[in-house]
Amino acid sequence: MGRPGALESLSPAAPEAALVQLGRLLQAAGYTFTAVSPASHERVVARRLEAGAEDALRQIFGWNLPFRQALLPPAMFDLLRAAGAVCELGGGRWRAAIRWATLADRLYLHSGFPAHAADSVFFGPDTYRFVTAIRQYLATAGTPAGQVVDVGTGSGAGGLSVPAAQTTLTDINPLALRYAGINAALQGRQVSLQAGDGLAPVSAPAALIVANPPYLMDAGRRLYRDGGALGIGLSLRIAEQALARLAPQGTLLLYTATPIERGHDPLHAALAALAARRGARLDYHESDPDIWSEELARPAYRHADRIALVTVYLRPITQTADAACRSDP
Ligand SMILES: C[S@@+](CC[C@H](N)C(=O)[O-])C[C@H]1O[C@@H](n2cnc3c(N)ncnc32)[C@H](O)[C@@H]1O
Repeated sequence: MGRPGALESLSPAAPEAALVQLGRLLQAAGYTFTAVSPASHERVVARRLEAGAEDALRQIFGWNLPFRQALLPPAMFDLLRAAGAVCELGGGRWRAAIRWATLADRLYLHSGFPAHAADSVFFGPDTYRFVTAIRQYLATAGTPAGQVVDVGTGSGAGGLSVPAAQTTLTDINPLALRYAGINAALQGRQVSLQAGDGLAPVSAPAALIVANPPYLMDAGRRLYRDGGALGIGLSLRIAEQALARLAPQGTLLLYTATPIERGHDPLHAALAALAARRGARLDYHESDPDIWSEELARPAYRHADRIALVTVYLRPITQTADAACRSDP
């Protein structure tokens, strides 16, 4: 490029630093974008061939439309290149390989559209609903006193929405942890990033564990989408692991979904059995009776009537509480 400016002031081995700097420039420019479902995204971008001058940043970084270099401020273009996050399409057109979304005035880096790669980093309508559930919980429970863990953190939006002194973000996808680290840096947050399966990397007791794990049976086995057996395998594993890691007054807030077959909810049945076995308290709410209805056309869902979105709270029943109950007349 040979132009003086952002590129030259960066260490060449610092794509993370370039992305943090790009995020700061977008924030300074007042950038906002609400991430939508893949189906809505596809319909909206089908309306135009490339980004235009009006609303250019949202078209480039939100909708991921092809763009001409002159549309982007040079410093932003240089940072995109320094991060290796732009593809040359030919004919003088480029496309950002990443997206930025906003949630509650905060900016989140996530994967470019379409998110077909197995290691894509998710951010979508479920992220907004998940964070709303966390906020509702915090409004009554208050700020957790102790470690907060967001398992399957993706961009980090769930864990970063909790104002905790000690935050651990875990994911099985290293790219998710890389993006979550960038998003945390943008918010000036110190977090611990832990790679691994479910809660395996977490040993210290947690005051609050939040999770929006994959909950579908995904033929492509994408990490952000495939929830294992019936789509609920990972949710159940997280619930089991959480009971071994929650502090006595701790809570697991699990935002997930389950197939319903002839009125039977396999996730509720399995969680109720787990809670009974482990002496835990289960609160289970169906928050949407019918999501991802297009999945019902797939062979994996041939026996399902619907897919229900649920919010689950699981709490250990403490020794003290048990003892108090037993000593009641
Ligand atoms: C639906 S995405 C949600 C991401 C984020 N929590 C949000 O709400 O935007 C599910 C996330 O779980 C991660 N994941 C999938 N399998 C996992 C596993 N076995 N252990 C930990 N994380 C996992 C994926 O990589 C992905 O980031």
